[in-house]
Amino acid sequence: MNSQKTASSTLKLDPKWPIGVFDSGLGGLTVLTALQKVLPEENFVYVADNKYCPYGNRSANEIRQRSHAILKFFTAYPMKAVVVACNTATAAAVKELRENYNIPIIGVEPGVKPACEITQTGQIGVLATAGTLKSEKYENLRNLHGKDVEVFEQACEGLVLAIENEYPNFSETKNLLKVYLDPFKNQRVDTIVLGCTHYPLIEELIHQLMHSVVTINTGAAIARQLESQLKKYHLSHIGNFSPTVNVLASRADKVFSEKVDRLLHENYKNSKTQINIIQLPEHYC
Ligand code: DGL
Repeated sequence: MNSQKTASSTLKLDPKWPIGVFDSGLGGLTVLTALQKVLPEENFVYVADNKYCPYGNRSANEIRQRSHAILKFFTAYPMKAVVVACNTATAAAVKELRENYNIPIIGVEPGVKPACEITQTGQIGVLATAGTLKSEKYENLRNLHGKDVEVFEQACEGLVLAIENEYPNFSETKNLLKVYLDPFKNQRVDTIVLGCTHYPLIEELIHQLMHSVVTINTGAAIARQLESQLKKYHLSHIGNFSPTVNVLASRADKVFSEKVDRLLHENYKNSKTQINIIQLPEHYC
């Protein structure tokens, strides 16, 4: 069954319903921010699956199980569309999710295509989790777009956890990042793909450590894709002047909630968006 073709007709999705977005933790909030910029009238529900973070070290099977649990929560809520705001979960689970749930599901993938188009040296670097880099989906992406370019990959073991632990002050994260960026210097890499949604949080650090590289963040492209899916199925929520963002975490402790709050309030400084952070019901954890 092709969920994207039958979504609105079969399920009678309502434009007023929110859009579900999920990731293993803080990373997908970088995608959520991009979605909100393009779609300011939509309501969002964000699930941070931080009890199982990082996904990058888990088996594809485990990630699929977690993705199903979250999709069950989203469809019961109900939501009108879902964004898998995680490269690792997209690589492991998006195909299966689309086969099982009758709503539009948008995935993310490392921006290899735009990087290959803009590189001047013909050498690009891809930072991502081991799970993303060893997936068939990534291999296909690289084969499709990286033929005339040298593509250097770095599986950034420990980087997601360092970002989660240290946000917003990244001292250990910086040391770790340096280890992963150093090889790119000798390889004359001029374009770096942020192949994990956590990495836009350290984009500034990347530029501090590697001057004059271009970084590729696909947040805006994902937002445009979501916008076109909503339009296609007549699901846009027009005229909603008090949008909400509800954040649920599989471990909504005080420290994590403060980080989410800080990150979102930095993004929504001048916006009227109301933000609520609560525990994901136990049944889905
Ligand atoms: N933000 C996720 C991604 O884009 C991080 C995965 C993880 O938790 O390791 O891949």
